[in-house]
Amino acid sequence: MEIVDLEEQYEGEYCVCLERWSEDMKDAGNRKELWLRRMKDRGLRVKLALVDGRPAGMIQYVPIEHGFAQGRDAYFVHCIWVHGYKGKGVGNQQKKGLGKALLAAAEEDARALGAKGMAAWGVSLPVFMRASWFKKHGYKKVDKNAVAVLLWKPFAADAVEPRWIHEKKKPELTAGKVTVSAFVNGWCPAMNMVFERALRAAAEVGGPVEFRPVVTADRSAFLEWGIADALFIDGKAVRTGPPPSYEKILKKIASRAKKIKR
Ligand SMILES: CC(C)(COP(=O)(O)OP(=O)(O)OC[C@H]1O[C@@H](n2cnc3c(N)ncnc32)[C@H](O)[C@@H]1OP(=O)(O)O)[C@@H](O)C(=O)NCCC(=O)NCCS
Repeated sequence: MEIVDLEEQYEGEYCVCLERWSEDMKDAGNRKELWLRRMKDRGLRVKLALVDGRPAGMIQYVPIEHGFAQGRDAYFVHCIWVHGYKGKGVGNQQKKGLGKALLAAAEEDARALGAKGMAAWGVSLPVFMRASWFKKHGYKKVDKNAVAVLLWKPFAADAVEPRWIHEKKKPELTAGKVTVSAFVNGWCPAMNMVFERALRAAAEVGGPVEFRPVVTADRSAFLEWGIADALFIDGKAVRTGPPPSYEKILKKIASRAKKIKR
């Protein structure tokens, strides 16, 4: 196994979270590519773990002012992922030390770039990106937003502890309409998938459905709402982790539309 920087030859794999085999990924559109292009100029760092020359793990981190937390002189880890699907792509590569090596390489890189600390997000539940995994690697919980835990490892005594940027307002409703408010940032293909599915489903139901996109790749839009990625149907948040299927989103929107038509 070796840890390398993201090179052009691996960008395709990286943009689909090393899951080229996945049918679901086809629903994610090209927002990750656009995000990559945009964030390259804003200090995005990506490291890959190669196994037999093939990308099997990745970590992406940005200067914290481009992440979802408030802070300074630090990096923010959006995502660390080691391919975990047996029999698909590079197979299950978890629990072989790739995650540990990726995090160590990212921290070393951030220190070399002058950062005073590393922030990361994890979830407090034993699913998805567990906060507990970071805790094992010396991170402590410094803030919480529902199940999203903000984790922090300072490298210097004068490092400033970060805080989440919290939700600032809720989507408004329009009388007589089904409002589908979809927020998309671009960093996460799974979240991009939810956005694209909601867009398609809203168009398919049509009629009273009002689709309201908020593209939070635009930093001012993110700061206005304090929401990076989310889906609300008539103001109610839809659970997006794991991403709901197209059919599920369609059903939710259609059932609201039926109530309005009556
Ligand atoms: C969390 C994650 C990044 C950790 O990466 P990993 O490569 O599996 O982790 P590591 O191998 O470094 O460590 C995991 C465990 O394997 C163990 N391990 C490491 N090397 C090992 C080896 N050679 N043999 C057996 N076990 C080993 C470690 O001791 C550790 O055990 P512990 O959790 O009980 O302490 C990875 O599991 C993952 O991607 N999970 C899903 C996260 C996710 O959903 N990310 C997307 C968020 S956007």
